Amino acid sequence: MKLLCFGVFLFVAFLANVGQCATKQKVKYIPINLEDNPPPKKIVCYYNHLAYKREGKGKVSTEELRPALTTCSHLVYAFAGISNSGYHIKSLDKELDTDKNKGHELFKQVTALKTSYPDLNFILGVGGFEDQKDKEKYLEVLDDAKDRQKFIESTVQFLKQYGFNGVDLAWEFPVVKEKKESTLGSLWSGIKHTIAGPKDENPNLRKDHFTLLIREMKAALRPDKYFLGLSVMPHVNYTEYYDMPSITQHVDLITLHAYNFRTPERNYDEADYSAPLHFAHGRQEQQNVNYMVKWFIEKGAELNKLILAIPTFGRSWVLNKDSPRTGIPPLKVEGPGEKGTIVQEEGYLSYGEICSQLASLTDANASPTTLRKVPDPQKRMGTYAFRLPNKQLKQEYGIWVSYEDPETVGVKAAYAKQNNLAGVAIVDLSMDDFKGNCGEKFVLVKSAKHHLK
Ligand SMILES: *[C@@H]1O[C@H](CO)[C@@H](O)[C@H](O)[C@H]1NC(C)=O
Repeated sequence: MKLLCFGVFLFVAFLANVGQCATKQKVKYIPINLEDNPPPKKIVCYYNHLAYKREGKGKVSTEELRPALTTCSHLVYAFAGISNSGYHIKSLDKELDTDKNKGHELFKQVTALKTSYPDLNFILGVGGFEDQKDKEKYLEVLDDAKDRQKFIESTVQFLKQYGFNGVDLAWEFPVVKEKKESTLGSLWSGIKHTIAGPKDENPNLRKDHFTLLIREMKAALRPDKYFLGLSVMPHVNYTEYYDMPSITQHVDLITLHAYNFRTPERNYDEADYSAPLHFAHGRQEQQNVNYMVKWFIEKGAELNKLILAIPTFGRSWVLNKDSPRTGIPPLKVEGPGEKGTIVQEEGYLSYGEICSQLASLTDANASPTTLRKVPDPQKRMGTYAFRLPNKQLKQEYGIWVSYEDPETVGVKAAYAKQNNLAGVAIVDLSMDDFKGNCGEKFVLVKSAKHHLK
């Protein structure tokens, strides 16, 4: 009897398989209607390797990434760099990335996750914000075909050696200096707070050479079917460097890092929404997500390759006794906000750090130590929260922070969907609520996924 049942089971399984094969076959020949079957949206998740080295509660190991990884389509390891001499790709922290004996071999730790997540693409990011030494090399390497080749060959070799599926070029072009036209009309504080970088005397030539790098890189990656991504970093004058019609066909994804439009470093004495979705009165017309996205679309970037990056961190400023008590931006402040307990970087707070301190603006019983949250019912500018200086608590300074929460992340993901973009990027996982301090772990990644469906 048992044997018979098993036989019947096998037969049924066989039928089911035949059925499956038949439908698969059928699907192949029926023209796919893209309206009904849009390709799944992409969620490109960034992992900042430095998070692995944070002390205490801010440390994010590869194990802690797991709850997010079923949601992500790509994992970008941020960042590698370029060697100061010779223009090879290189690890920016050998002890962390590659050292087997004394270090952590994090490159391999990360790509080893492939066994658990076979559909996930493991991408190595180059440049970004991390490679701050001799930034001229990002321009110089472009100019000579031999140097480009050195960079390209070393990259292919690197991807093979460490098990990545591709590379994302977050090229460190010179950043545009912030114009000091304060919406408040306040005086320049006299201290130089702009981030100095190289100047490019010939951006037109660099634009052409960068296009060559992309084309040559794609050709070198093709035999292994490696991925090639492009990231446009904040404050780079993209109108000068990205020749969209010539580039777009050679890359798999183009990630627009549309955040940090206003930062405590560049806008030292004036706090404002850091990554607004839309333009608002009195602001610079290009300092919002929509402007950047529309520029790339207009210049011919293929929609099914465009990715909108959403930050998981907030940008914070110090409120002093002269700051307006309403908290309404733009407002007078005094530089980057104090370090938080998790990420421990001035001017940055992770969502995991912010969420546990929030109280509603109208909650009369909330403790003066909480951050008062001001939502954005118009869904245009984003959320902010603040705590005023408090004499009784002997807190001479307060804090003002512009940040994303599950709702604003949802709004941006929905925007990406409405505009038929390929998806969103989450920058980065270590700044989301990865511990679940306020409930579900990685609530921002999950919200993005939910609103892209
Ligand atoms: C970017 O470059 C273009 C072309 O050179 C220039 O017209 C524009 O003013 C630049 N934008 C900024 C913000 O510097």
